[in-house]
Amino acid sequence: MEQDVNITIIDREGVSHSIEAPTDMAMNLMEVVRSYELAPEGTIGICGGMAMCASCQCYVLSDTALPEKQDDEEAMLSEAFFVKDNSRLGCQIQITPEMEGLKVQLAPAE
Ligand code: FES
Repeated sequence: MEQDVNITIIDREGVSHSIEAPTDMAMNLMEVVRSYELAPEGTIGICGGMAMCASCQCYVLSDTALPEKQDDEEAMLSEAFFVKDNSRLGCQIQITPEMEGLKVQLAPAE
């Protein structure tokens, strides 16, 4: 479908997955990871996408322009483990056509 964007997600085992994510279903990156079962159930999306658990943390490896972090994402990342400069919360990243070619790596489970 032309509404899909190609995204590469490296899972916690280091395995790279090239997947297509829909831009017209109001999905966020955490939900995409879950729908493709790239992380075991119960290890990602624990707070349901409220920016309150950091289980969806990922490292952005491509130079894809993403929306700025909001305050609640900043606050959660300031308390999370394994945070790097390129850390983002997957649940706060809505999939849009601009994300074609995005490449991320899932942060380790806490
Ligand atoms: S799912 Fe909990 S912070 Fe993203």
